[in-house]
Amino acid sequence: MQTFHGVWPQWGDIEIAGLGDGGALVCDNVLGHATARRVYNRILELAREGELRRAGIGRMGGHRLDESIRQDLIAWLTPDLADSFIEVRTLFEQVLEFANTQCWLGLKRFDTQLALYPGDGAQYDRHRDAFAGQNNRRLTSIYYPNVDWEPAHGGQLRLFYEDREEEVEPRGDRMVIFLSEALDHQVLPVFHPRAAVTAWYYGT
Ligand code: OGA
Ligand code: MN
Repeated sequence: MQTFHGVWPQWGDIEIAGLGDGGALVCDNVLGHATARRVYNRILELAREGELRRAGIGRMGGHRLDESIRQDLIAWLTPDLADSFIEVRTLFEQVLEFANTQCWLGLKRFDTQLALYPGDGAQYDRHRDAFAGQNNRRLTSIYYPNVDWEPAHGGQLRLFYEDREEEVEPRGDRMVIFLSEALDHQVLPVFHPRAAVTAWYYGT
């Protein structure tokens, strides 16, 4: 298991096999700087307007607020918010196509979530997005619009492989993809507003 850096959507057999083995794929410059900045600004604006809520941890309605595990603000990307995120949605649709035709994942649909860590040291503890038998999240795809990200801002995505840990910087216009059941991960403490748009893909 390891992290592969590729050019979207030109992944080869090595990247595809790596994803299947529980690795992560990282791609930069997927939508362009201007789109990334607009997405970033829009998520901050939604937070100011009170459209984002403290995240709960749970599944299938077992929605429980647990600020010790996860301290970001979130909103599901509902149709009324969709206009500002058309490019990201299209990207996530292309990922679904790609995953089905190249990786045979049998994905049917996805949910999209907006997330913002305000920058007060909030983090998201080590977790996995899906567990066998619990739900049918198969693939996780995260788009980062943080165009001004610097190491001092923190918020690295730490990936827990069997034999080691790796950190992926949440740089602007970067996409990270991994199998939801395969990879434990964590968001390190964040010291500057850090946004993400995440898609979870389902097999039913
Ligand atoms: C999540 C998550 C990672 C990130 O929302 O489940 O792990 O980098 N997000 O924002
Ligand atoms: Mn996660």
